[in-house]
Amino acid sequence: MKEAIRKFINTPLVIGNREIDGRLVLAPMAGLTHVAFRELVDSFGGCSLLYTEMCSAGALPHENRQVSPVFRWRDAELDHLVCQIFGSDPEIMALAAKRVAGEGFFGVDLNFGCSVAAICKRNCGAALLRTPDLAVKIVRVVRKAIDIPLTVKFRTGWEDRPDAAVALARRFEDAGADALIFHPRTAPDRRSRPPRWAYIGQVKQAVGIPVFGNGEIFTETDCEQMLETTGCDGVCLGRMAAAAPWVFAAWRSGMSPDLERHRRSMLQMMALLGAHYEPVAALRKFKKIAVYQAALFRFGHSFFKKIRNAETFSEAGTIVNDFFDQHPELSLRPNLNLFQ
Ligand SMILES: Cc1cc2nc3c(=O)[nH]c(=O)nc-3n(C[C@H](O)[C@H](O)[C@H](O)COP(=O)(O)O)c2cc1C
Repeated sequence: MKEAIRKFINTPLVIGNREIDGRLVLAPMAGLTHVAFRELVDSFGGCSLLYTEMCSAGALPHENRQVSPVFRWRDAELDHLVCQIFGSDPEIMALAAKRVAGEGFFGVDLNFGCSVAAICKRNCGAALLRTPDLAVKIVRVVRKAIDIPLTVKFRTGWEDRPDAAVALARRFEDAGADALIFHPRTAPDRRSRPPRWAYIGQVKQAVGIPVFGNGEIFTETDCEQMLETTGCDGVCLGRMAAAAPWVFAAWRSGMSPDLERHRRSMLQMMALLGAHYEPVAALRKFKKIAVYQAALFRFGHSFFKKIRNAETFSEAGTIVNDFFDQHPELSLRPNLNLFQ
């Protein structure tokens, strides 16, 4: 990575009334960015803002952090943890946001990007991009309810029209959003077609608040290119962070991880999942994340198949150790068949 870019990603950034210490942030990912995974990311350092999995705004005011599957956190992460909420009713979203603020989170994020059918059917996530007035109203009402940073994560829309995304970005800013995370794909694209990074540049040009670019940043070169070609203020890493939770620290410091780091990270993921969740849920969650970690290897597919069939943590641990004992070959880019 060029020295100027390395310096840039280590530069603090103001978001609303708070500051973060750098430009690399973790994307919210359902099933992946749980409390155990975030603890792993923090153990390596370098991630300036963590995002929770998406949390239902309707459920959130009644959630018990000790037992909730998603609304759980460690006190030590609160100063750089954003809770992402989804919903479609502005008042319900505002109530949820108030709870998040009351708990001491860094900020609240509004999910206007999830294109999964179960979410869109309820008029939540990316479905709200079909009704921009309602999406903007949600931003405005939530903004009034909280004084901590408010971010909005959204996609291009339902059609490939960057002008519509740019117009919406301006309206989100006017309604009080403090930063945007923009994933330049349409909702029907899900993650199939490549993201159109050029649209990130258009959104960045249109607003005065920070814009984080998101979508298929897998290498330091990708990161550099996104920053250089779009002028965005920072980048938001999803699947690459799941695959390599130390990626933030590595890119910020220039350190290149060895094979042992992959092994240790997988074993540590298991230990943390075991500490935060009961055994069945912990093993299920490990399998969810292991597929991304396996995708970084040339024969990761057969490695993951074995992990998927493991019935206990100790069996999965043996599979991990056996795999790394054979000095597996890393791929230059992740295997996208596994990186869904
Ligand atoms: C398993 C998985 C779950 C996701 N869940 C969410 C979510 O809860 N909220 C959200 O806004 N985006 C979610 N996303 C989208 C990511 O935040 C991100 O926008 C997308 O993966 C593209 O970034 P990447 O190429 O760096 O992975 C999810 C993605 C994946 C792979």
